[in-house]
Amino acid sequence: KILVLDFGSQYNQLITRRIRDLGVYSELKSHKLSAQEIKDMNPKGIIFSGGPNSVYADGAFKVDPDIFKLGIPILGICYGMQIMAYTLNGGVEKAENSEYGHADIEVTADDATLFQGLPKKQPVWMSHGDLVTKVPEGFESVATSKDCPISAMQDLDRKFYGIQFHAEVRNTKYGNDILKSFAFDVCQAEANWSMNDFIDLQINHIREVVGDKKVLLGLSGGVDSSVVGVLLHKAIGDQLTSIFVDHGLLRKYEADQVMDSLAGKFGLNIIKVDAQERFLSKLAGVSDPEKKRKIIGNEFIQVFNDEAQKLDGIDFLAQGTLYTDVIESGTDTAQTIKSHHNVGGLPEDMHFQLIEPLNSLFKDEARAIGEELGMPEELVWRQPFPGPGLGIRVIGEVTEDKLKIVRDSDFVLRDEIAKAGLDRDIWQYFTVLPGFKSVGVMGDGRTYDYTIAIRGVNSVDGMTADFARIPWDVLQKISVRMVNEVDGINRVVYDITSKPPSTIEWE
Ligand code: XMP
Repeated sequence: KILVLDFGSQYNQLITRRIRDLGVYSELKSHKLSAQEIKDMNPKGIIFSGGPNSVYADGAFKVDPDIFKLGIPILGICYGMQIMAYTLNGGVEKAENSEYGHADIEVTADDATLFQGLPKKQPVWMSHGDLVTKVPEGFESVATSKDCPISAMQDLDRKFYGIQFHAEVRNTKYGNDILKSFAFDVCQAEANWSMNDFIDLQINHIREVVGDKKVLLGLSGGVDSSVVGVLLHKAIGDQLTSIFVDHGLLRKYEADQVMDSLAGKFGLNIIKVDAQERFLSKLAGVSDPEKKRKIIGNEFIQVFNDEAQKLDGIDFLAQGTLYTDVIESGTDTAQTIKSHHNVGGLPEDMHFQLIEPLNSLFKDEARAIGEELGMPEELVWRQPFPGPGLGIRVIGEVTEDKLKIVRDSDFVLRDEIAKAGLDRDIWQYFTVLPGFKSVGVMGDGRTYDYTIAIRGVNSVDGMTADFARIPWDVLQKISVRMVNEVDGINRVVYDITSKPPSTIEWE
């Protein structure tokens, strides 16, 4: 395996991700590990991540100097290169021009290991205020850019390498090749790691941590908590109890699907709480979006709490937290859950120990695990669905009638998108009921009914999004079916705004 030491960069998990993609196991660890602790883990190589600080800043993250005596290859990226140079008595200074974004480097040494077989000139992604001004003894500078004379350095004897740019970011054209060279040519790692190994590793780890104690899981029906459920069940069987709160704001047939699959096929012990009425009565008369969100979030915790209190002797709470949900990642800072309401959010007055087996993974890796575990496609490839559910897709006050329109129209939309073979191509798609009526004509009569809006977006992480270009003929079929099959609709419109300036959900 290759260890990545965390110096606080926002890209640090991306490094472990890229290494895992090469088939080499990689995990992120605290920069505070001692040389002995690292030695005990017996890694093939170590990567120092980037970080936001200057090596001279108060409280700057340091590294145990004895790490350099272990005989293990090291690659320092950005701050990682600077801390390497600083610790080994090279020179680090504030850059005259800090560089953020695209830069071109030129490889100046023929024997630059990490750049073998790559073009001498290549585009990279820089993001730094300091830079290495003098390589430590034993090192040579091997690449340069306009604003960063020492863009890469190496010490061939000790197998120490530094790069000022971020190889883990896609904008660094040959970043993957550089990481590959480090993993295989330098560290001699073998590409023999797969998601199956991750599953075995986690199962062993969960068994070790949990022992004969009991674990509680909040199931939302989404990918992440479902995968955690199946994984935990595989590890500890009936020591796991899951609570699935049906708040009545789920999609059509969703609750049944979750129960059929997870309880039926996989044998999870699930307590399903039918709380539709509790939620609807709390939402009655409320039309402000933020108030609605808060009510749903709080009520969820209440319901979950009420159920959990009926159970005895639970020590652990499992959550489907992904790396992207963890605001401060790494081992030095407490893990914070998104302020977004996520189903299964930790009730404040409960004192469980947390188990988050997916918190080093990205969404697509969680999906890959689900597939390995034999979970059905409609669970594994489920699109993102907000915690407050359809409650924020009925604009304004939520009533049962309006929920039904959104639920039925959403069903038609999903059905037609699947029939058109687009369900894996569009990142997220759903319907919204804006809540106003307009005039139409059906048969020979005048109608005065609701308008339904279709929202389809493509995105990577939901932070920004572009509206999806659903083909006209598919939209036409959807429109015809919605007006015919969903009571109370006489008009269908398509949302053609991106995010920003809009958001994905309407509330
Ligand atoms: P917005 O509307 O903020 O949505 O552009 C971005 C993505 O987040 C989802 N979303 C939520 N997810 N809890 C969640 O877990 C929430 O409260 C929530 N609100 C929005 C939304 O569906 C989109 O994918």
